[in-house]
Amino acid sequence: MLLVLMNACKDDVTDENSFQLNYIELSAHDSLPPFIIPEDNKPCTERIDLGRRLYYDKSLSTGGPLEGQACASCHEQNKSFSSKNGVGVLPHHNLAWSSSFLWNGAVEGQLEDIMVFELRDFFEVDFNNLAQNQAYREGFRKAFEDGQINLENSAYALAQFFRSLISDKSKFDEFLQGNVLLTPQEMRGYAIFNSERGDCFHCHTLPLMTDNDFHNIGLIDKFSGHLGRYEVTKRSSDVGAFKTPSLRNVEFTGPYMHDDRFETLEEVVEHYNSGVKNSPALDPIMTKSGKETGLRLTEQEKEDLIAFLKTLSDPSFVENPAHGSPF
Ligand code: HEC
Ligand code: HEC
Repeated sequence: MLLVLMNACKDDVTDENSFQLNYIELSAHDSLPPFIIPEDNKPCTERIDLGRRLYYDKSLSTGGPLEGQACASCHEQNKSFSSKNGVGVLPHHNLAWSSSFLWNGAVEGQLEDIMVFELRDFFEVDFNNLAQNQAYREGFRKAFEDGQINLENSAYALAQFFRSLISDKSKFDEFLQGNVLLTPQEMRGYAIFNSERGDCFHCHTLPLMTDNDFHNIGLIDKFSGHLGRYEVTKRSSDVGAFKTPSLRNVEFTGPYMHDDRFETLEEVVEHYNSGVKNSPALDPIMTKSGKETGLRLTEQEKEDLIAFLKTLSDPSFVENPAHGSPF
């Protein structure tokens, strides 16, 4: 992992025809880990702006299998860039700290790598088509020294936009910073979440609210179709293991799970409480001592837990105009 400290600065070049990027410093509050930023793609406004435009532009899919759609067609800002789709659309926040992507982790590396996958393999983008557009010719010229409208540059620009999608202003963040108190109910929910009582914290680890790992949490007893992490590793212990989603903004990201099976947080909590199904690769955490027959939470405890989950909502993120459509 690379920790890069940056100062807002311009390249020290004086020739007025020379290529310059307006570097900026990404900021996130202290309790979040250092950013993972590649040396050759340091945050700058030109690439973030370009990435944002690509994200919202339906012409990205012209002539490809997703004709008519933009990234934002499935990833809606007011749902923390998730949506109701029947196929578990993963949200886009704080992915700057992820190094494996998609529910089964099929793409490993950094944001630049998953963007290559999205553009080349998922959208099958025709870059000649983008080159017809004057706004892109200009945008790429400003953002890249070679000015090329190609896969690599587009992936770099989109990766920068994603790195700027930082959610760190939830009530819970303010609480961690010592700026606000949680209500007694939220505190009770936090205690359930963060102790053996609810046991959520083992996988939804603070402060990112994910361990960036894969687990089978007992949604299904007989797997067919989507086998999760097993599809990548071919290890039988990974059958039905899926990427732990960050629970930030979870109030907005429903329906829940990789197959969108639950509409509400109440249903999710009831799954952990009483619905865990056995299968050979079930994560041992799900049935460890004391949990063999579920969590057995009282109605009050379930409500408390949900009240805590809602402290992870960050309206300033889902409403931030800088993350919205530039069109
Ligand atoms: C048709 C709907 C749809 C469109 C359009 C779409 N996505 Fe997604 N996206 C999904 C779904 C569904 C998943 C989860 C798929 C999986 O993991 O198997 C996902 C997952 C992702 C992830 C992984 C997140 C993580 O936590 O691992 C990234 C990154 C992503 N999409 C970026 C993009 C980008 C960039 C575009 C535009 C080029 C885009 N998506 C367009 C539906 C869509
Ligand atoms: C063993 C690891 C593990 C534990 C323990 C765990 N989770 Fe999860 N959680 C996951 C994984 C993995 C998923 C995604 C599973 C899938 O879709 O197949 C998930 C999904 C979720 C989701 C849906 C998120 C979304 O956007 O779809 C919520 C909400 C959630 N968990 C809350 C909790 C709560 C509350 C607890 C404690 C009662 C808890 N989790 C305990 C690993 C865990």
